[in-house]
Amino acid sequence: MHTHPRTRILGTGCYTPARVVSNSDLEAIVETSDEWIATRTGIRRRHFAADGETTSDMATAAARRALDAAGLNVADLDLIVVGTVTPDQPSPGAATLVQQKLGATDIPAFDISAACAGFVYGLTIADQFIGTGKARCVLVVGVELLSRAVNWNDRTTCVLFGDGAGAVVLGPSSMTRPSDRPDAPRPGILATQLFTDGSLAEALCIPAGGAARPATLEVLAAAENKVHMDGQDVFRTAVKQLAASSAQVMKAAGLVSRDIDWVVPHQANMRIITQVAQRLGYPLERFVLNLEEYGNTSSASIPIALDEAVRDGRIQPGQQVLMCALGAGISWGAAVVRF
Ligand code: UT7
Repeated sequence: MHTHPRTRILGTGCYTPARVVSNSDLEAIVETSDEWIATRTGIRRRHFAADGETTSDMATAAARRALDAAGLNVADLDLIVVGTVTPDQPSPGAATLVQQKLGATDIPAFDISAACAGFVYGLTIADQFIGTGKARCVLVVGVELLSRAVNWNDRTTCVLFGDGAGAVVLGPSSMTRPSDRPDAPRPGILATQLFTDGSLAEALCIPAGGAARPATLEVLAAAENKVHMDGQDVFRTAVKQLAASSAQVMKAAGLVSRDIDWVVPHQANMRIITQVAQRLGYPLERFVLNLEEYGNTSSASIPIALDEAVRDGRIQPGQQVLMCALGAGISWGAAVVRF
């Protein structure tokens, strides 16, 4: 537990593409129904990137908004970390293109491949860099362009995902903001916990298109370069590990459920979120939810939801927010942050 948090969130931002695709729109593409998608997942719409729009474009837009919210400039950044499994191209990483588009120079910029847990991983990495003094201001982005990574012939996955980006700018907890409450304890990251269980790597993956099995014509024909998921395995693991890691991170921060003002969970399935809420004994009204509008945007889902809740005034200065996410890896994690 950091009695004096080392790192705080100075600003949040998000970008969601304008093109909205409803469940009924998907009925024209695969054998599905609005009713099935809504009742099995809670998703009603998702946003898809426009033709020509890229992962780094979305990430850059979210990053600019987070910098504006923080009252900082690109020149203030010391590090760019981008959580994504859908970078513009295999190499270099999306973070290098975000750096280019922001017009930042020389600062380190790298991607983390932790799928839906990418933002929580990024937050943890930023906390370490700032805590050791290696960096002062860090940009962390969660961004995915999953509409181009799913198999449009596989109804069990293609209806679930959406595109978008969310970003935060972090700095030392000694940095103040005009909205800070003078009487409140110092804002910041109170604890983080990360986990990976590689024995479940096959449960949710993009099986080919990498160095083991490059994108041959056969791979492309079988859509093996697209997202594959055993939904029920992932579902069970998600309920168990999201609840367990949330309980662990609260304990590490020295907090109990009633100390948490909001939970911002990864937005994959309303049934998962409901079961996690039950296990934690925490009311669903205190969860920030937006999967109805965006579907599962993987690493972008927490920072998009966070930004929406900060901007609409749900999350207030001084409040304590729990975030938890799980996805391909299987990788998961949780964080508690005081705003
Ligand atoms: O973000 C990373 C983490 N990912 C997750 O957390 C996802 C976790 N998994 C899930 O959210 C759920 O498992 C799914 C939403 C993916 C699937 O829900 P489910 O209740 O586990 O459904 P199921 O796979 O057991 O399928 C039930 C039925 C099957 O038909 P039969 O075999 O019972 O006749 C499927 O073929 O639903 C059928 N089905 C569909 N029907 C209409 C599967 N997808 C669709 C669809 N439209 N899109």
